[in-house]
Amino acid sequence: MSRLVIVSNRVSLPRKGAQAGGLAVALRDALERLGGLWFGWSGEVAEDGAVPPPRAVTHGGITYVTTDLTRQDYEEFYNGFSNSTLWPLFHFRLGLLEVSRRSYEGYLRVNAAFAAQLAPMIRRDDVIWVHDYHLIPLGDELRRLGIANRMGFFLHTPFPVPELLVALPGHRRLVRALCAYDLVGFQTRDDVRAFLGYVGGEARGEIGEGGRFTAYGRSAKAAAYPIGIDTASFAALAAAQAASPETAGLIESLQGRKLILGVERLDYSKGLPHRFDAIECLLECHADLKRQFEFMQIAAPSREEVARYRALKRQLESAAGRINGRFSEFDWQPVRYINKGYDRATLAGFYRTATVGLVTPLRDGMNLVAKEYVAAQDPTDPGVLVLSRFAGSARELQSALIVNPFDADEVADALARALTMPAIERRSRWRAMMDVVEANTVETWRDAFLGDLAAGMVETDDFAHPDEEGLGLEPPPLPLAPGFQPPGYLR
Ligand code: F6P
Repeated sequence: MSRLVIVSNRVSLPRKGAQAGGLAVALRDALERLGGLWFGWSGEVAEDGAVPPPRAVTHGGITYVTTDLTRQDYEEFYNGFSNSTLWPLFHFRLGLLEVSRRSYEGYLRVNAAFAAQLAPMIRRDDVIWVHDYHLIPLGDELRRLGIANRMGFFLHTPFPVPELLVALPGHRRLVRALCAYDLVGFQTRDDVRAFLGYVGGEARGEIGEGGRFTAYGRSAKAAAYPIGIDTASFAALAAAQAASPETAGLIESLQGRKLILGVERLDYSKGLPHRFDAIECLLECHADLKRQFEFMQIAAPSREEVARYRALKRQLESAAGRINGRFSEFDWQPVRYINKGYDRATLAGFYRTATVGLVTPLRDGMNLVAKEYVAAQDPTDPGVLVLSRFAGSARELQSALIVNPFDADEVADALARALTMPAIERRSRWRAMMDVVEANTVETWRDAFLGDLAAGMVETDDFAHPDEEGLGLEPPPLPLAPGFQPPGYLR
């Protein structure tokens, strides 16, 4: 029976009283059943330049091992190459691409250091699952250290088409590193197509059946695994939150007006300035709807040390002020712009309250807010999802009102339609979306990926739902791996 090792930039450590998100719960659940280790950045920056040895904590049968970054690593690896180079590139924003050899070297250095720390903890039959763009070279680094285990990688963001990817100095090395994995998972078929397009073109690799490919001397498989949410528990949470003080306070403050709600990290991929333009357009072109709705945008601060994010914050503050200045009356204002995050439970109640869920990224790997909004609705009186065609979730949630976020008039028209949509149409659109969100949950996503990885990559259609037998799910013994450095730094 194989043990599972998960590697991700952020590690969801169990904290008293903290509510873990759906992804963290699903990964912890697999780690608990298979026995496992979760390795990644602690979120701490060692300001004095001396990184202490990794810290391990065991909880619920899972060993969490986290390591700090130096200030230089944090700047070059996290703020730099991950979030100022790969993030804009992977979201198709070449104009925002920052290229620096220093940050690229920092990115490679941190991946190599993570691999060196992790390698001694790996057992011979462990299955290793690496997550996201921060850690693309990690698998290759582990291979260099002699780790021959089955290894999978899942990219949570979109993958750029080859014509964009080649703008990145070091693109070849990055794709070669992806080829070090046995299975490379993406959110959508478009991402798989983009990746295989590069492999078959730039890399002169061979593309076989069912996403199999050979390039840079290795054979592997690429496939789409659209991530889902913990649908049943999120729906239950939203129903329970319908009567919470926060939800009641929000409903009271609306004074019978309908709520258009947007919730995201304050990130330029989310299309927030375009969304504000669409709201302005709605107020201009559908004047009859004035005073009948309020638009509430929750934008949780994110990556504030990256200049682009700070600039976006200023831009949104000014847009909210402009629209409110222009359209507010003494007893009504159209925009509530909130620059902070709320916990999961509070958001679930807010989603349920909103007549319209507005999710209009310019590019997004999946966008789970769209799925959570659907799951949170009251089946007898559901709201309407207005969804960007550039969110991965638009592939599945086709009964949403699908819009082009660059076209403010089109988004405004969709919002007007959503605000006035008859209940019978709302219910039928919601049912169709809920069927999808119920069928493809975060658990089916996890099991599909791990099933393919563990079973030697059996043929899948784009998205498989393997049974649990393939995973060898038995209660695991959970000692630390041989070679793991003991007590000195164990917490
Ligand atoms: O979706 C990409 C992602 O990096 C997630 O892995 C992460 O949870 C989220 O964005 C937040 O970003 P950060 O880890 O930079 O705060």
